[in-house]
Amino acid sequence: MNTQRICVMGLGYIGLPTASLLATKGHKVHGVDVRSDVVDTINRGSIHIVEPELDVLVRSAVHSGNLVASLEPAEADLFVLAVPTPFAEGHVPDLSYVDAATESIAPYVRAGNLVILESTSPVGTTERVAERLSALRPDLVEDGRRTFHVAHCPERVLPGHILRELVDNDRIVGGVDPASAEVAAAFYRTFVSGEVLVTNARTAELAKLTENSFRDVNIAFANELSMVCGTLDIDVWEVIALANRHPRVQILNPGPGVGGHCLAVDPWFIVSSASDEARLIRTAREVNVAKEDWVVRRVLDRAERFRKPVIACLGLAYKPDIDDLRESPALHVTRSIIEAMPEAEVLAVEPNLRELEGFDVVPLEEAIGRADIVVGLVAHTPFKRMDRSRLQEKVVIDACGLFR
Ligand SMILES: NC(=O)c1ccc[n+]([C@@H]2O[C@H](COP(=O)([O-])OP(=O)(O)OC[C@H]3O[C@@H](n4cnc5c(N)ncnc54)[C@H](O)[C@@H]3O)[C@@H](O)[C@H]2O)c1
Repeated sequence: MNTQRICVMGLGYIGLPTASLLATKGHKVHGVDVRSDVVDTINRGSIHIVEPELDVLVRSAVHSGNLVASLEPAEADLFVLAVPTPFAEGHVPDLSYVDAATESIAPYVRAGNLVILESTSPVGTTERVAERLSALRPDLVEDGRRTFHVAHCPERVLPGHILRELVDNDRIVGGVDPASAEVAAAFYRTFVSGEVLVTNARTAELAKLTENSFRDVNIAFANELSMVCGTLDIDVWEVIALANRHPRVQILNPGPGVGGHCLAVDPWFIVSSASDEARLIRTAREVNVAKEDWVVRRVLDRAERFRKPVIACLGLAYKPDIDDLRESPALHVTRSIIEAMPEAEVLAVEPNLRELEGFDVVPLEEAIGRADIVVGLVAHTPFKRMDRSRLQEKVVIDACGLFR
């Protein structure tokens, strides 16, 4: 494999593992982040995020001299954009990070370079990157044709397994033109053992959004069913277990909503670009958000009969066994209970966090010992190992199947 000079923009959960993996494969990687604390940490061979085995990889990449972090981009053979793509007010995509990264690499791009957008993006964003670069660098456009390549390769790794999945997963590569797609696919084939599937940029963008929307819609079905069961006073877990015995039915698990920076965000990118058509996708988002308040109402209803209820909320993270609070339904539910019932004492239990501003984060044992009401919000492993006999005499509201 030829050694390449690679400039990675954004050194977070996606950019840092990618940059260090490429550096340990022998490439000369120049990693860029706008946060100087991130740049300094990485240049010391340390990491600022939690991801198994990443510390060892980064240390080895930095010590080999193949990974250098900086606040400024540098000339390279290829550029990888791995910056955030959140949504703004009204659920519209916020492309300001992609635009800023595009502008900052513009002076460094040369003819023949490849620019890859890895950030999860609304349809048309990769073309937007190509158009912005062309406008900023008219010298790189000859007879109306770009002299550089631009492609999208959405990342689909699972936090906690990023290093393995970066290599093992199949990848979708979509070019703004066929040549860009081929050049980008050839690059990924040098380090990905999964299949590299080639398409155009818009299809690649929508394929990634589709993956997350599919999950969101299916969880919405389970969440809606859980609310139906609540009204009918039927155990949703039993209904799902029985229905799933049908050979072609596979209902997912309900929870207090849907969280994280992917499933709770990406479907809105489809809704914003095809709002009249994406009715099911929008409704699924609305159902999953509504589930959060439904759980809150159930807790408040049961708490009414106590003068000063002690309520233990088990879990704050957006899914089991992580510390990530982004778009977390459990966090929203706990915060809403605190706001709605100031007379209650709300004990938050989150084994993956030591403290959190605005919350009484207490150990599980203490919370269970003191609580009148126990709310299961996240199926963290320590909760599943809990002695259930301690819940006798308590009001239990189980939003995630913890006490099945
Ligand atoms: N984390 C995941 O599991 C995951 C999985 C699949 C896809 N994605 C997508 O990958 C993209 C990046 O996500 P992430 O989780 O790595 O985000 P992150 O917040 O962990 O990291 C992004 C980094 O980019 C930096 N940054 C912001 N603006 C910049 C700029 N103009 N130039 C250079 N650096 C800049 C930030 O300081 C931050 O360190 C998003 O589009 C996300 O949706 C993430």
